[in-house]
Amino acid sequence: MKKIEKVAVLGGGLMGSGIAQVSAAAGFPTVVREISDELGAKSRQSIEKTLAKGIERGKVTEAERDRTLANLRFVSGLKDLADSDLFIEAVVEDLDVKNSLWSQLNGIARPDAIFASNTSSLTIIAMAAASGRPDRMLGLHFFNPVPLMKLVEVVRTITTSEETEERAMDFVRALGKEPIRARDSSGFVVNLLLIPYMIDAIKALESKVGSVEDIDKGMQLGAGHPMGPFTLLDFVGLDTVYKIAEIMFDEYRERRYAPPPLLKRMVLAGMLGKKSGKGFYDYSSNPPRVSNLGL
Ligand code: CAA
Ligand code: NAD
Repeated sequence: MKKIEKVAVLGGGLMGSGIAQVSAAAGFPTVVREISDELGAKSRQSIEKTLAKGIERGKVTEAERDRTLANLRFVSGLKDLADSDLFIEAVVEDLDVKNSLWSQLNGIARPDAIFASNTSSLTIIAMAAASGRPDRMLGLHFFNPVPLMKLVEVVRTITTSEETEERAMDFVRALGKEPIRARDSSGFVVNLLLIPYMIDAIKALESKVGSVEDIDKGMQLGAGHPMGPFTLLDFVGLDTVYKIAEIMFDEYRERRYAPPPLLKRMVLAGMLGKKSGKGFYDYSSNPPRVSNLGL
């Protein structure tokens, strides 16, 4: 079984940056492909910031930071990725965008390279044809923030070979993460349960069951969650949650996955959560204050 040595990460946003960081930290030469050099520089900065926080907290040594950064390269062209053994895609949650990327990569990557999608809600089999390598295509679903969350869902489709799954399981373990095997159905294990929970919190707010702060406090102090649902929504990105909910609703046709009107309005207003500076909370002040949502 060929070992994975070189890794390519498509997309240097919230997830792509985190995935690239843990891959580089585990010793894999890792190339991050962003759609522009400016976005590549932003991805590098965000990794540097997380590593600096890790040093501050005594979790990362200066030598580990230097080794991680030395293993990272940021590019904007696809051709620079040609000699990678594993391609991990973390671009926007949009099947057309992902499939256009896979078909371009299929013309560039070695035939034995593995393609993995970090999709939150699309089925992996919907990308297998575009990948041109249905036996070497699978899901590797990481969690946000990637450097801190231990889990990765490994998703094998009806066409993924056993060897591909085992190579991916070994890679996840080499990152120091815990893999679980999940079926290729929309949302896999975690989002199948987590997305309706976040949607319910928005519905509870819309129907004035409690305020943003009180609902967050309720789930933190009453149910032991590390962050309340609105902090989590802002953290994941409201545009991403909206797209995930639409895809899951389309798949299951159940109301519990339907994105609530308030979520759509906030995305239309550019309130995407922490990454845009404003969502359910306004991050321009420290500590963040609750946004005025006109409720
Ligand atoms: N580098 C390395 N280690 C770090 C670090 C860094 N930059 N920052 C913190 N740490 C370490 C801390 O030292 C601590 O380690 P110990 O427990 O060994 O002491 C640990 O990481 C946690 O740090 P803190 O306790 O200081 O941080 P926190 O209490 O603020 O917790 C959190 C942060 C882990 C993000 C926590 O709030 C949490 O778990 N939130 C929920 C996140 C979640 O649910 N994510 C899933 C989102 S959904 C998803 O991702 C799927 C999808 O498809 C949408
Ligand atoms: P993000 O908004 O932070 O980043 C999106 C990335 O997509 C950026 O790198 C951007 O440059 C790239 N992109 C945008 N349009 C593109 C195009 N036309 N062609 C190529 N690249 C393009 O999003 P994110 O939160 O990092 O999510 C990325 C993927 O990871 C999504 O599939 C999402 O569902 C999944 N995911 C997200 C989370 C989360 O908590 N945010 C957790 C697990 C999985």
